Amino acid sequence: MQTKAIILILPLFIMLGCSVNTGQTNKEIQSQVKKLLSEMTLEEKVGQMTQIDFSVIAAAEGQQTDDLIDQAKLEDALLTHHVGSILNAPSTPNNKAQPIATWRKIIQSVQAMAAKSRLKIPVIYGIDAIHGATYTQGSVLFPQAINMAATFNADLSFKEGEITARELRASGLQWNFSPVMDLGRQPLWPRLWETYGEDVHLATVLGTSYIKGHQGDDFSAPDKALTCLKHYVGYSFPINGKDRTPAWIGDRMLREYFLPTFEAGVKAGAPTVMVNSAEVDGIPGHANHHYLTTILRDEMGFKGFTVSDWEDIKRLYTRDKLAANEKEAVKIAVMAGIDMSMVPFDFSFYNLLIELVNSGDVPLSRIDEAVSRILTVKYRAGLFDPTAQVLPVEGNFARAEDIETNRQAARESIVLAKNANNILPLKKDANILVTGPTANLLSVLNGGWTITWQGDQESLYPQDKLTIFKALQKKSSGKVTYVGGNSFTDGIDSQKAVEEAQNHDVIVLCLGEKPYTETVGNIDSLNLDQTQIKLANAMIATGKPVILVTLGGRPRIITSIAEQAAGVILGFLPGMEGGEAIADILYGNYNPNGKLPISYPRNINDSVLYDHKPIESYEANAYHPLYPFGHGLSYTTFQTSGLTVEKDHIKMGENINISVNVKNMGSLTGKETVLVYLNDVAASVTRPNKQLKAFKKIELAPGQIENLSFTLTPYDLSFIGVDLKRIVEPGDFKVMVGNETVLFSLTKP
Ligand code: GLC
Repeated sequence: MQTKAIILILPLFIMLGCSVNTGQTNKEIQSQVKKLLSEMTLEEKVGQMTQIDFSVIAAAEGQQTDDLIDQAKLEDALLTHHVGSILNAPSTPNNKAQPIATWRKIIQSVQAMAAKSRLKIPVIYGIDAIHGATYTQGSVLFPQAINMAATFNADLSFKEGEITARELRASGLQWNFSPVMDLGRQPLWPRLWETYGEDVHLATVLGTSYIKGHQGDDFSAPDKALTCLKHYVGYSFPINGKDRTPAWIGDRMLREYFLPTFEAGVKAGAPTVMVNSAEVDGIPGHANHHYLTTILRDEMGFKGFTVSDWEDIKRLYTRDKLAANEKEAVKIAVMAGIDMSMVPFDFSFYNLLIELVNSGDVPLSRIDEAVSRILTVKYRAGLFDPTAQVLPVEGNFARAEDIETNRQAARESIVLAKNANNILPLKKDANILVTGPTANLLSVLNGGWTITWQGDQESLYPQDKLTIFKALQKKSSGKVTYVGGNSFTDGIDSQKAVEEAQNHDVIVLCLGEKPYTETVGNIDSLNLDQTQIKLANAMIATGKPVILVTLGGRPRIITSIAEQAAGVILGFLPGMEGGEAIADILYGNYNPNGKLPISYPRNINDSVLYDHKPIESYEANAYHPLYPFGHGLSYTTFQTSGLTVEKDHIKMGENINISVNVKNMGSLTGKETVLVYLNDVAASVTRPNKQLKAFKKIELAPGQIENLSFTLTPYDLSFIGVDLKRIVEPGDFKVMVGNETVLFSLTKP
C-alpha cells in the first residue's frame, strides 16, 4: 500500500451557544453562576448534585393532597438536604400517568418550596418522555424511536420533538431524558426499540432533528424543553443481549459507531447527558473517566452536565464490585465525571459526598465544576427567570394537528415487508378473521414508557384509541371477526380460529411481543413462543391467505411463517395511532413507505448487520437477513436511474456532488426514500461493504420522475484510522444507489 497523505479531521470543538429567552448572554450567566456559587455552602452545592425520585416526597396512600406530595418530606428534601433535582411520576414503584392539572400542581409545589430555601435555587425536574409526554394523561404518544427511524423522515422527528416539548411544558415539566442516541446493533437487547436502529447516519439525522424540534434555538422558550443524550456510551451493545450486561467495544468501534451520535447530539446543543448503566471493556460507565471526561469534555467539548442513571453510583459497590463501599463509589463516580447522581431513594449520596469533601478525598474544585455546570443549565433553562410562565394547557396539549402528525408518523413508520401477488391492499368488503395476541391491545402498539414504566397496564390506556382489530372493524364494509384472548396469558383458541377461518376470505394474524423495557424485557432467544407458532401454523394450514402483522420492540424470528404468509407487515411499536395506521395500510387508505432501520434476522444467531465488513460476506460468509436494512415495499414501484457523481476525480477536502433520478413506475402515488451508500474500496482499516451516507424521502405521483441531488462531505469519507484518529485517505470510492454503482477517486491535494 503506497504511503498515503491523510488529512486529520480535527475534533469538533463545540461551544454550546447560549442565547436565552431571558435575554441573558453566556457571559452574564457565567457571572451569575460564579456569584451564586460563591454564596453557597458545601451542603447547598452537594444538594444541587443530588437527584431523588418522586417517591421520596410522595404523600402516603390516602393522605389528602392535590399534588400527591407530603410537604414535610418535600421540605426535608429541598430545605434540609438542598436537593436540586427530582425525577419521575407519582405512584412508584410503577410510575403512573397523571392528569395535566396534577402535574402543574406538583411542579408549582416543588418550586414554591425551593423558593423558601436560602438561595432560592429552583429544582430541575426530570422525566422520561421518550415518545411523547409519557406520564401526562391524554398526551400525544408517538411511534417509538425504532419506528421513527423507519420513517426515514427527519421532519417528522423534528415535529415529534416540538410536540413532546410543548406538551411537557404545558404539564409544567422541562427536562426530558431523551433522545436515546445508543445504536441498535444487538437485536436481543430489550431496549433496541428505544434506538434509531443500527446505522450511524440515520440515528444521527433522526436524533439531532428531534433535539432541534424539542429545544428550538433556545430551550428556555415557553414551549421548548431540555433534552438528555443517553445512555453515554456503549450501553446498547451487550455481548449476551441482556440489558445492563457487559459490552466489549474496542476504541475504534467506539469511535466509528457509538460516539458519533453523541458527538452530533452535543453539537446540536443537548445540555445534559445520561450515563451508561452497564460496563464497557470491564469499566462501568459511571466510573469511566476516559469516556466521561477525556472524550466527552476534552474531545467533544460538552459544556452541560452529566447525570447518572438509576442508582448506578451505588451499584458500583452493590453490583459491579468495583468500589469497596458506597462512599468509595461516590468518590469514583464524581471524580470520573458524574455531575449529578440519580440516587434515587435517599440522601446517601448527599451525606457521603459531603464527608468526602470534608476529608479532602474529593476536591472542592470538582464540586464547584459540577455545580457550575448544573446552575448554568438551570439559568439557560430560564428556571431563575421570575417572569417565566408555565405554558397554558389550552392550545398546547393534545391538539388535533398534533394528533394528525402522530397519525402520519405512525403510517410512515410501518414496513410492508412482503406482498405476494399483490394480495394487499384488502378490499373494504373483505371478510377478515383477525387473531393473535397483538390484535386487540393498545399496549402492544406502544411498548414501555407508556402511562407506566413498563407500558403494560392495558386498563389505563385511552379508550378512544383503536387496536388493530377495532380499527379494521371501524373501516370495514365487510365482516371482521376477532378470535383470541385479550392478553398473552389468555392464549388464543386455535380451534375456534380454524373454524372461523372457513367463513372468511383472509386471516390477519397479529403476533409479536407484549410491552417491556430494561431488564424486564431480557430474553434468551429471538424465537417466538410456541403458542404463537402453533397458532400461525394452524392458520396457514387452513389454506386461507394469511397476512402476518408483527408488533414489538425487536425482530422476533418469523422466517417460516413469513415464507408461507401472503403478506408481512412489520409494525414494531407504532404508538397510540398505530392500530389505525396498520388498518389504513391493510385497506390501502395509505400507501406504506416505511423502511427497516435494522437488519431483520433470518435465524436467532443471524447477527450480521448491513454495514458488515468484506470478510463477513466472503466465501461461506454472507449477509443473509430475512429482510435487509432499508427494505420496505410500497403499493406502487419506484426506480432510480442515471446515478452520477459530478467529478470522477475529487481533490482531498472537496465535497462530492451526486445526483440520481427516481421515478414512480406504478399507478398509485407514494413516498420513496432514496438511500445513498458509500464504500471506501481500500483503506488502512477494513471498511464496510457499504455505509449509508445520505437519504431523501420524496412523494411521487404515478409516472412522476424527479432528480435528487446529494452532497457528501470529507467527513462522510472519513473513518477511524490505525492510530484512532478520524482521517480521510485518498483512493477509490464507490457510490451505490438502488442497483447502480458509480466510482470516483480521491486524489491528494
Ligand atoms: C432508567 C433508564 C433510563 C431512564 C432513567 C430514569 O433506569 O435506564 O433510560 O431515563 O432510569 O427513569
